[in-house]
Amino acid sequence: MKAVQVEEAGGALTVVEKPIPDPGAGEVRVAVRACGICHSDAFVKDGTYPGIQYPRVPGHEVTGVVDAVGDGVTQWSEGQRVGVGWHGGHCFTCDACRAGDFVNCANAKVTGISFDGGYAEYMVAPAEAVAALPDALAFDEAAPLLCAGITTYNALRNADLSPGDLVAVQGIGGLGHLAVQYASMFGMEVAALSRGTDKEELAHELGADHFIDTTAHDPSEALQALGGARVILATAPNSKAISQLTGGVGRDGTLLIVAATGEPIEVSPMALIQGRRSVSGWPSGTPDDSEDTLDFSALTGIAPEIEVYDLEDAADAYDRMINNEARFRVVLQP
Ligand SMILES: NC(=O)c1ccc[n+]([C@@H]2O[C@H](COP(=O)([O-])OP(=O)(O)OC[C@H]3O[C@@H](n4cnc5c(N)ncnc54)[C@H](OP(=O)(O)O)[C@@H]3O)[C@@H](O)[C@H]2O)c1
Ligand SMILES: [Zn+2]
Repeated sequence: MKAVQVEEAGGALTVVEKPIPDPGAGEVRVAVRACGICHSDAFVKDGTYPGIQYPRVPGHEVTGVVDAVGDGVTQWSEGQRVGVGWHGGHCFTCDACRAGDFVNCANAKVTGISFDGGYAEYMVAPAEAVAALPDALAFDEAAPLLCAGITTYNALRNADLSPGDLVAVQGIGGLGHLAVQYASMFGMEVAALSRGTDKEELAHELGADHFIDTTAHDPSEALQALGGARVILATAPNSKAISQLTGGVGRDGTLLIVAATGEPIEVSPMALIQGRRSVSGWPSGTPDDSEDTLDFSALTGIAPEIEVYDLEDAADAYDRMINNEARFRVVLQP
């Protein structure tokens, strides 16, 4: 099969021929139909996630069809439409798993990091990492929902929000452009925060009520002028930019971080004390959460805006993502 892999930390995305992998016990082979390029794939490309063994095939926004199942797999069968996201499986036996908290499994695996992901014609995943894909969703448009979608949908639906609350979304990229749509569909007043005005019209089309150009306006002042945000969902992978938001959180509000940056953020304790503001984070979720995301998206017609590339052109496609040129998610098709 054809696959695209990173040969070593910091190496290029290289097109290679590999044997089609066979599913072991408890595993499922997926014939990949589409795979989104998430900013978190930079972890694999740059080698900034602990414990990656190279060469590694990235990709954790995967949709496809079950093509073969290993011994002991009863919940999936050949021909089923499925998706695979960041959560790449769990052990069922650690304390967290026994408490049903699979995301925090002590032995959790990550798709495209612990094992080869979806930049390929086929991939193999643990059966518990697989989600059912509704027939109503196309493979290419559904792929980004398996990470960008679930992360923003799940973060927002678990936040302390009521219809009409002001929700700010910082960074209108793969995650952000879906967050604007979900927040709007949840009945929130939505402010999109972006560097420049390029995305202003698109943000309004996606459901944003306000657009704040953070290069022209202090985002905290602009949000306070709107009454302060109940939730600011930070998706921009830059800690300095996230630190500029803390003053925009309203009373009892939360700076909710999904951007996976390594640098510390700065926040004033006084700002947290006055107004009982908080700072928190959110990981993507489990395949159950993915199924909820997919079902909700099918129900409401929410879909990512995508640019489709051939698998062989993964390097160019990745560059569009990393250079902030994609509107808004690049999807690879084998
Ligand atoms: N928590 C989780 O489970 C989870 C899941 C998926 C991804 N992530 C993380 O979430 C972040 C966003 O991922 P993505 O796939 O949405 O990325 P993306 O498509 O590249 O979008 C990120 C957006 O952030 C803004 N941005 C980029 N660089 C910036 C900088 N240096 N300073 C300020 N703003 C910047 C840009 O928006 P504007 O042009 O509008 O400013 C850009 O479109 C990444 O850190 C990724 O690793 C976390
Ligand atoms: Zn991702």
